[in-house]
Amino acid sequence: MASKLTGTVALVTGASSGIGAATARRLAEHGASVALVARRRGRLEALAAEIDNAGGAALVVEADITDRAQAEAAVQQTVDRFGRLDTLVNNAGLMLLGPVLGADTDEWDRMIAVNVQGLLSTTHAALPHLLEAAEDGPRRVADIVNISSIAGRVAWNGYGVYNLTKFGVNGFTESLRQEVTQRHVRVGVLEPGGVNTELGSHNTPEVRNEMIDPFYQQTEVLAAEDIADGVAYMVTRPRHTAISELWIMPTDQA
Ligand SMILES: NC(=O)c1ccc[n+]([C@@H]2O[C@H](COP(=O)([O-])OP(=O)(O)OC[C@H]3O[C@@H](n4cnc5c(N)ncnc54)[C@H](OP(=O)(O)O)[C@@H]3O)[C@@H](O)[C@H]2O)c1
Repeated sequence: MASKLTGTVALVTGASSGIGAATARRLAEHGASVALVARRRGRLEALAAEIDNAGGAALVVEADITDRAQAEAAVQQTVDRFGRLDTLVNNAGLMLLGPVLGADTDEWDRMIAVNVQGLLSTTHAALPHLLEAAEDGPRRVADIVNISSIAGRVAWNGYGVYNLTKFGVNGFTESLRQEVTQRHVRVGVLEPGGVNTELGSHNTPEVRNEMIDPFYQQTEVLAAEDIADGVAYMVTRPRHTAISELWIMPTDQA
């Protein structure tokens, strides 16, 4: 088993499904102790048991990261349990599509709360610990990987507010990268294309029929594990290599 992350600790938000679960599994395979953060405790417990059975270490943290106090408590519980934090994967996300005209604006609030405010709260709480890990950790480097999207680079009709959140994540990532890069906290963004997860399932039946299902029927989609491999490379890469941005998309979109 690879062990490039032995002795390090990772926190993955949105670890109860899709890309987050696959990433937590992969980081544990590389030797990291992993804090699994999301709202659905049962799913986190099942994943933690799987990681424990494979010889790893996982902590279940039931938290809604849109509540700043819960995001901060998730980071604190991780550090209390494992003593440090080397890697933050900001993965939790929500994608609700549809036209601006006639939109349910509560959906916008929910998306902004997870994709932007949740990411900010978790990052702000984690940063002092990551800076400390970069100073005295086994790898002398710490990582933040923000899971954005191709929708953080390319805008499409009906993706408006999802585009807004992911373009925002990309801009914030680049700014924070410049702020902390000299202190050996590497901040990067991973922008997946279509991945087979539950992400589309929260949309109305109309949006699923008109925008989401046709996309999946026309395109060869990626597996969550493909993205997890990308995250794993970003955080296990040699200290002297820089990746600020990584696109991973199906071949027929490239
Ligand atoms: N799938 C794709 O095609 C694709 C493409 C590009 C980018 N992405 C991005 O990849 C990331 C992961 O998405 P996915 O595709 O793996 O979708 P997913 O299967 O729906 O997973 C989303 C995760 O976010 C968590 N989450 C949502 N709201 C939360 C909250 N308030 N507090 C804590 N956790 C919350 C969910 O957990 P709970 O419900 O248990 O809280 C779940 O674990 C997202 O940022 C998404 O935008 C996905």
